[in-house]
Amino acid sequence: MDYLKIEGIKSLNGTIKISGAKNASLPLIAMTILAKNSVHIKNLPSVVDINTLLKLLTNLGASCDFLDDRVVVDTSTITQTKATYDIVKTMRASILVLGPILARFGHCEVSLPGGCAIGQRPIDLHLKALEQMGAIINIKSGYIEASAPNGLKACNISFDKITVTGTANIVMAAALADGITTLTNAAREPEVVQLCEVLNANGVKIEGIGTAVLTIHGTNGKCIDIKEFSVIPDRIEAGTYLCAGAITRSELTLSNVQAKHLGAVLAKLEEMGSTFTLTDDTVTIHPSWDIKPVKIVTQEYPAFPTDMQAQFLALATQADGVSIIEERLFENRFMHVSELQRMGADITLNGNIATVNGKNQLSGTDVMATDLRASSALVLAALVANGTTNIHRIYHLDRGYDRLKEKLEMVGAKIQRLSE
Ligand code: UD1
Repeated sequence: MDYLKIEGIKSLNGTIKISGAKNASLPLIAMTILAKNSVHIKNLPSVVDINTLLKLLTNLGASCDFLDDRVVVDTSTITQTKATYDIVKTMRASILVLGPILARFGHCEVSLPGGCAIGQRPIDLHLKALEQMGAIINIKSGYIEASAPNGLKACNISFDKITVTGTANIVMAAALADGITTLTNAAREPEVVQLCEVLNANGVKIEGIGTAVLTIHGTNGKCIDIKEFSVIPDRIEAGTYLCAGAITRSELTLSNVQAKHLGAVLAKLEEMGSTFTLTDDTVTIHPSWDIKPVKIVTQEYPAFPTDMQAQFLALATQADGVSIIEERLFENRFMHVSELQRMGADITLNGNIATVNGKNQLSGTDVMATDLRASSALVLAALVANGTTNIHRIYHLDRGYDRLKEKLEMVGAKIQRLSE
């Protein structure tokens, strides 16, 4: 197993190119199941989760040619409709194939994803909505068995809670359904918006894109032709490197980024003292030496993203004063706290609220990555710690950060990837 060895340093300097968004790429790749042609996708990140989904599609019979940041996916050769446990257990987002496979083939089996490090993460809302569309769903031997022998029927669906992959799944199911589906309390994340925009540009009319009410005009079982498109930049990767600039008090420029997707993150960094120069596709952070404490509540987009909570918690350890960070989306998403405490952070956890009593001089030590974003919080802490930090179990980072070591090295970080 590999680990990262990071020397605490004074400052970084330079430009980091942001990759395509993992969380946009996953539903967009799943969407190719709805296509009758070979689909060309550009600006994909080189991360393990993308390989996992492409492997899942390949196992079903699709052909996937992934080179650099491009893939060509041909799903016309799919012969299987079962997403097996060995793949689903490694990536919960595999559930994204349920809606499109069911819509196209009338039946699908997907292994239940099970629990995960950050919380229970049920999929009841996905299943309930598919049942409303006429699917018959049984849970048997750890698998979701779904069938819709006469195709899915459009209906009015209202999610009890906003769910990102749930929205993507139902939009893809509704795309091939018979009639017009209305989805209320839909997620408005940019990744969901892009999925809707690509479908809308390729024969599935969708109204209300970017709002909480989506109206999807189904094609009644007809697969669609999907033209080449490029994945939006990864706003969480961008946010993480902005935190790297802020925590090391370094001017960093991010290229291939869309500032409009980073509203809540930029606002909180501004509250903490940073300023920014924005262009159409770059963001430069001008950090302040004195970092101010902050209050953060994670919520659905456009509010502050849960996927940036861990990184801001690391940053708050360097703020002068008391920061309060409340996690509202996942019940167990504070695994990084105990590791940061081991590095010398003064953090008190009370249920879903972390109180960070800054500023703390962190010390390098051996720490363990526990989930994707928690891992990046440890990288940020390591950048300003005294001495050397070894971050173990970095396979979590590999799932979602494209060449993190190389990107940080390019701007001056002292970072090595070594084998245990
Ligand atoms: C997606 C993102 C993840 C991000 C999360 C929240 C992808 C691949 N992953 O995850 O990075 O942290 O959104 O922004 O895009 N819920 C239910 N029942 C359901 C579905 C969800 O109760 O059927 C709950 C969840 O437990 C959670 C909340 O709804 O408390 C939001 O979860 P959801 O938006 O579904 O997260 P994911 O789509 O899994």
